[in-house]
Amino acid sequence: MYMKNCWYAAAFSGEVGRHILSRTFLDFKTIIYRTEAGEVVAMADRCAHRSVPLSMGELVGDTVRCRYHGLCYDKEGSCVSVPGQTLIPTLAKVMTYPIVEKYRVVWIWLGDSALADPALIPDVYWLDHPEWVPSAGYHLIAANYQLLIDNLLDLSHETYVHPHTIGNSAVAASPLTVNVVAGREVQAHRDMLNCEPPPFYVSAAQSNFRIDRWHTTTFIPPGVCVIQSGSVPAGMEKQEAGAKGLKKERRNLNFITPETATSSHYFWASTRDYSLDDAALTEFIRKEVAFTFDQDKEVLEAQQREIGHSIDNPFPVALKADAGAIQGRRMLQMMIEKEKG
Ligand code: FES
Repeated sequence: MYMKNCWYAAAFSGEVGRHILSRTFLDFKTIIYRTEAGEVVAMADRCAHRSVPLSMGELVGDTVRCRYHGLCYDKEGSCVSVPGQTLIPTLAKVMTYPIVEKYRVVWIWLGDSALADPALIPDVYWLDHPEWVPSAGYHLIAANYQLLIDNLLDLSHETYVHPHTIGNSAVAASPLTVNVVAGREVQAHRDMLNCEPPPFYVSAAQSNFRIDRWHTTTFIPPGVCVIQSGSVPAGMEKQEAGAKGLKKERRNLNFITPETATSSHYFWASTRDYSLDDAALTEFIRKEVAFTFDQDKEVLEAQQREIGHSIDNPFPVALKADAGAIQGRRMLQMMIEKEKG
């Protein structure tokens, strides 16, 4: 079900500090913390002695001390002290995972560590760039990660799930085009021409006139979706609108990491390239997006409850609007099978 030889988002950088963060990825229970020098460490959440979760323990300097009998593990997962004896058993070792911190995100590699090349982290520079401002958040969603990716590759649901923020009738009514890029990404694109601005566009982009709107979801398997969205006054060329300050663009970054077969970590950020110093707008967008994703959570969790563990036939009735999601699943499946050899 999972690709393992790849980078997954494990946390936003700001979540990780001098405390133990407990999180499960791909059914592996892990702990994450920072050393005193600021380096991020990830290791299995299970003491080698008697299997008590290390997340119940505490940090002592750069080591993790188990709550039960006090064994301490260093950042390499090696036991470095055993109360009451000087001999350290060779099997007293905990699995650690490669970690890279980039774009204000902590990325974890759960597969073969010899293959963990930082250059494979998807380019999501908007999160950490002076010309873009992020409004970011996190949801834990009780649904399989593929249901979230389906959701992002078919944004026609905005019309019905998000009518108070980003949706209106123009979204579902506009045709979808789908492309495979370089054999390893799926792009699903919609143009919504000469339409009423949905509520979010009026409040967050100051667009209280008819607009030409677009969004393109780029799915980078297994767990990154970048949604490029924007608008200009209806009929105006993008270049002219840009020169007049009327082109409003956002990059909506979505990092989806499986927690278990039926739950997912959802890290998100809406980044914008306008009104960069407007802190009130940044907070307003964060709240609006969080509210919008609360609605997705409600629908996706209901969908998961209904289908249970059955993932054999995800599209029993396929529509044109499903083309991106179907292509995304196809590519993901191909990559999982390739990894399995
Ligand atoms: Fe961890 Fe015994 S279970 S020290």
